[in-house]
Amino acid sequence: LSKEMKMPTGFLWGGATAAHQIEGNWQADGKGISIADMMAAATVTEPNRVVTKSIESGKIYPNHWAIDFYNSYPQDIELFSELGLKALRVSIAWTRIFPNGDELTPNEVGLKHYDDLFDKLLAHNIQPIVTLSHFEMPFNLVKKYGGWLNRELITFFERFATACFERFHKKVKYWMTFNEINNQTDWRNPHHLYQDSGLLLDKNENAEESMFQAAHNEMVASAKAVIAAHKIDNSLKVGAMLAMVPIYALTAKPQDQLIAQRAMQYRYYYGDVQLGGKYPKWLLNYFKLKKFKMPFLKEDAEILKEGVCDYLGLSYYFSLAIQARADKKVEYDEHNDLVNNPYVEKSQWGWQIDPEGLRYILNWIQDRWDKPSMIVENGIGAYDKVQADGTIHDDYRIEYLKKHVEQMELAITVDGVDVLGYCMWSPIDIVSASTGEMKKRYGLIYVDRDDTGNGTNARKKKDSYAWYKKLIASNGDI
Ligand code: BG6
Repeated sequence: LSKEMKMPTGFLWGGATAAHQIEGNWQADGKGISIADMMAAATVTEPNRVVTKSIESGKIYPNHWAIDFYNSYPQDIELFSELGLKALRVSIAWTRIFPNGDELTPNEVGLKHYDDLFDKLLAHNIQPIVTLSHFEMPFNLVKKYGGWLNRELITFFERFATACFERFHKKVKYWMTFNEINNQTDWRNPHHLYQDSGLLLDKNENAEESMFQAAHNEMVASAKAVIAAHKIDNSLKVGAMLAMVPIYALTAKPQDQLIAQRAMQYRYYYGDVQLGGKYPKWLLNYFKLKKFKMPFLKEDAEILKEGVCDYLGLSYYFSLAIQARADKKVEYDEHNDLVNNPYVEKSQWGWQIDPEGLRYILNWIQDRWDKPSMIVENGIGAYDKVQADGTIHDDYRIEYLKKHVEQMELAITVDGVDVLGYCMWSPIDIVSASTGEMKKRYGLIYVDRDDTGNGTNARKKKDSYAWYKKLIASNGDI
């Protein structure tokens, strides 16, 4: 970047994590069981994570131990501090505060844990950025209430959010309500309905209609949390959080363009509601055509308008491509309609690598919602090899991060997009959310633990650690 194209001062260079993927200690200090605790790890022969109704012997539940951050955070924060992180995104495990989700009063031990964590971060000049619900709602709310299909959960979430804002508002300025609320666009995949909304549907239920209802309840809960936060402390900023995945038309054929447009409308209507305050017209019509029950009550319109989020937290890993369907219907089926994009490379887990897609989507966000955005996840899952001398040469990770940071900087300095920060995923190796693997490593710091939980749990800096440290110190000089 030339001199006049400098990154803004105060830009939040950070790292990102989620409680269930790092904390372990799944039953310590009164913690309740979360939906993540009930997911067994996937294996080569059994590639999808299975939700078990009880803990089954012989199955592996990696979130139960993760990387033991619940205990090791003081030492890990030392490493983050040396790295120069200005921000760390964490989530508060709902089940540490309200173990079953429906209690009336919070668990003091849980609150105290996060007090200590935030104090430690602040003492190192690292700003905590907090997600309230990151794929880890209380399992009890699934069993007893049927997950987010049930409007009663709005009250429970509002209570949880309010307890957190009241307790931590002096320590945490940036919040997010629901992590990647739009993953459930792929409602044909039960994994996403469970992770986003705690839904375990039976075959007779209409999964798409259920998804719209559950997501609506979450968005009302999110809006109520925003309203509560602003009442408690007007300086708090509460964000929506979306997985931003540009979906390109495979060709310039008008039919391909139409389906790509619908795919983007469908995948991002959550943003229209959470950042724009109302449902888009095409979707209201879609509900009618599909004969779906309208998911909202009369009073919700006002709440959604008043509880518009202050910014968008986004993850960016890859882009997708789409082609018109054989039946020519302009209807989006995320599970079946996507096609290979021949112009981009893929990661070892088959995720399409597209740095320019980040610049594209940051511009798209600015144009569509005109709100600040914050990149709260970006990174690459890869196999790492520890050399005999203990070093880890992850040049592929440096290359991925560098190319994405470069495109983000162009979006900021050339296109004028308002981006508050960049929290890479993740400063340290953690349990993968989709597969439960440890070997799908994202970290700048290696954790000596394997898929079954074996290993010393010792930390080692990878080459990418030194690279990111330099990047932060220079405020983004690539
Ligand atoms: C996002 C999630 O989907 O991507 C994270 O918010 C997750 O929780 C990250 O870890 C990477 O995905 P995965 O499945 O490789 O861990």
